[in-house]
Amino acid sequence: MTNIGVIGGAGYVGLVTGVGLAALGHKVTSMDLDQERLAMLRTGKSAVYEDGLESILSRLNEIEQITFTDDQSEAVRNSDVLFIAVGTPSLSDGAADLSAVIAVAEQLRDEISEYTVVVVKSTVPVGTLNVVTDILSQKLTEGEDFDVVSNPEFLREGSGLIDFFAPSRIIVGAASERAKSVLREIYKPLLDGTTVVDIPWIDSACEIPYVETDATSAQLTKYAANAYLATRISFINEIAGISEKVGGNIDDIVEGLGLDPRIGSGYLQPGIGFGGPCLDKDLRALITVARENYYDPVMFNGVLQRNELQLREVINKITAAVGPSLYQKRIALLGLAFKEGTNDVRHSLSIRLYRVLRDQGASVIGHDLLAVDEATELEPDLEATSNLDAVLNGAEVIVALNSDSVYAEIDWPQVKLAGISPYIVDTRGILDHRALTSNDLIFDVLGSSG
Ligand code: UDX
Repeated sequence: MTNIGVIGGAGYVGLVTGVGLAALGHKVTSMDLDQERLAMLRTGKSAVYEDGLESILSRLNEIEQITFTDDQSEAVRNSDVLFIAVGTPSLSDGAADLSAVIAVAEQLRDEISEYTVVVVKSTVPVGTLNVVTDILSQKLTEGEDFDVVSNPEFLREGSGLIDFFAPSRIIVGAASERAKSVLREIYKPLLDGTTVVDIPWIDSACEIPYVETDATSAQLTKYAANAYLATRISFINEIAGISEKVGGNIDDIVEGLGLDPRIGSGYLQPGIGFGGPCLDKDLRALITVARENYYDPVMFNGVLQRNELQLREVINKITAAVGPSLYQKRIALLGLAFKEGTNDVRHSLSIRLYRVLRDQGASVIGHDLLAVDEATELEPDLEATSNLDAVLNGAEVIVALNSDSVYAEIDWPQVKLAGISPYIVDTRGILDHRALTSNDLIFDVLGSSG
């Protein structure tokens, strides 16, 4: 058992990390500045939707395996290892904003009094660990008072706990053997499949690859992973665009692609593009790092450009259906979060699409199962509900934007009874195309024509 502090513990990465480490049997002090979120977490409630999180958190609260505080010095006092999980959003030029990481490091410099391993969990540009080390070294001695480690996260929103307890790999970047052994000790229960509360996703049978490398390679691996995922999405969106032009069927193309074991069929769904707080941010940060080191990331610029153009593709489909004037046209958007299975609307392309349609005078109504409150908090003028019938009723255009299974089960004859035959844009290939055809509804599937 290790005494662990998580700084930024109420954020998306920090919360999953804190709960996960506590479930492994470590004593976790989770620190954050957001009082409202801290209060919720102490009652077992989370503002961040994560499948299974609240029940596990409640059990951990009961056995006092995790505590929540707004006092960083308390977290430092209680801990031998500190995970930094604060946000690193994009600056206007695409570089990562490290101000929160730097502020934490400056406070740790003044607070650490005995050997502490500082683990950077936040996704940070290559070289950031040197910045943290330099700050701590202003008052402390590396190797005696502290060591800094890179331990990047590979969590997907909505399935973060699954990704924590059944990771495809654990990567630790460090120079210090002492620090590496501390991290091995921390993750040993995960590798052994032993937890102090019931975790459904633990599979002690499966071997979790544990990779130790240097800090730079660990940080760059994280960026490379997200850059590849973004590239994969822009790749399939570009194939979908070409397929539409020449009369192809994107579902069949993806099936054929995926049968090549070097390619695989996962993560090849065309759509409005990659949204969310990670892929775009990390890709832009990687492009910035490349440029700062006089290397021209031509391909990654193309990945970004395709993603920007994808929103235009969807808008063009809408205007092609209802004419260039969207004024007072009733348009239903199915899916407001940046993807299905999350309540996170940060960098949601559905919200960007809403803003474009609203600014052209359209009457927009949005549907989401989890993110209605978050969407209307972000856009108070947005009409949104989790009542799907209310959204579909009277719509002239219906745009399916995420692949929530509820959209595959829409009762199209019922929709027609409302007296309007809506034009349907299926950006994810999620809708029941046979039912649409049998109900004489005109629809467009991104990537397939005819
Ligand atoms: C991503 C990475 O998957 C995760 O490993 C990393 O730690 C954080 O960033 P996340 O942003 O939560 O996770 O969502 P993800 O499921 O990757 O989807 C990102 C975006 O790509 C969403 O907008 C989603 O709709 C879109 N997407 C995903 C597609 O358009 N097609 C796909 O096939 C998959």
